[in-house]
Amino acid sequence: MIPPTHPNQADIGALSGKVAVITGGSKGIGKAIAFGLAAAGAKVVLAARTPAPLEQVAAGLREGGAEALAVPTDVTDAAAVRGLVQKTLDVYQRLDILINNAGIGRFGTVADFTPSDWDAVLNSNLKAIYLCTQSALSPMLAQGGGQIINVLSIAAKVPFAASSAYCAAKAGALAFTKVLAGEVRQQNIRVTAILPGSVHTPFWDDIPQHPDFEQMLKPDHVADTVVSVCQQPSGMVTEEIVVMPPLGIL
Ligand SMILES: NC(=O)c1ccc[n+]([C@@H]2O[C@H](COP(=O)([O-])OP(=O)(O)OC[C@H]3O[C@@H](n4cnc5c(N)ncnc54)[C@H](OP(=O)(O)O)[C@@H]3O)[C@@H](O)[C@H]2O)c1
Repeated sequence: MIPPTHPNQADIGALSGKVAVITGGSKGIGKAIAFGLAAAGAKVVLAARTPAPLEQVAAGLREGGAEALAVPTDVTDAAAVRGLVQKTLDVYQRLDILINNAGIGRFGTVADFTPSDWDAVLNSNLKAIYLCTQSALSPMLAQGGGQIINVLSIAAKVPFAASSAYCAAKAGALAFTKVLAGEVRQQNIRVTAILPGSVHTPFWDDIPQHPDFEQMLKPDHVADTVVSVCQQPSGMVTEEIVVMPPLGIL
């Protein structure tokens, strides 16, 4: 319980009226973030490639009384990403929070990994963060501030076998996040990297060798972390958070 005189009281829970774009919002962690931010009062714009599940999530949010918009988008496509941000501005006239969460995993040893798998992993986990961030910066700068949260992975720091592209993409995205934070902090844009360990989501559906689902984090664990960062007082920034299952690397 926060006493009424707490100096940061005005900031806490103040997502009402804020507009959040969430990439990868149709499933897994992104879907949980969408529900978490909507419950905290934000209007949410969901992006993913496949329209039907995306619209289903948006419809579920609207049924719960939230404002939600589904914008089918391939976040590796620069023109599509510009369209996502423009649609957000057309409908809601602002963009306060960008959650860069979309990403795919493809795994295999360097000897066997194909160039097309390499490009797919690097483009969705790294290039997309640059594209979405660049497009979102313009309205954030015009508004006088904003918040960018990049959902990365513990693979940004820990080398996993047969994961060269994924680890390289996440490590690159962590470096990108830190450079970005330095570039925009004077403009009142706060940037955070979230590094989860294994989370039980559809990410693992096509991966035959996977850790025990029971021991993994739940999507809500990561979503709650993201929402709490969004609710932090404006006088602080959490730059990096590692969120792990209690048993650590599984
Ligand atoms: N699950 C884990 O154990 C784990 C652990 C650490 C970090 N992460 C990271 O957390 C993020 C979310 O993972 P998740 O587990 O929630 O995965 P997920 O359940 O497979 O969901 C991935 C989401 O990203 C979207 N997506 C993928 N490629 C896209 C593209 N090019 N353009 C737009 N949307 C795209 C997917 O929709 P479409 O396919 O319809 O586009 C889907 O909405 C990823 O960055 C992942 O690397 C996951």
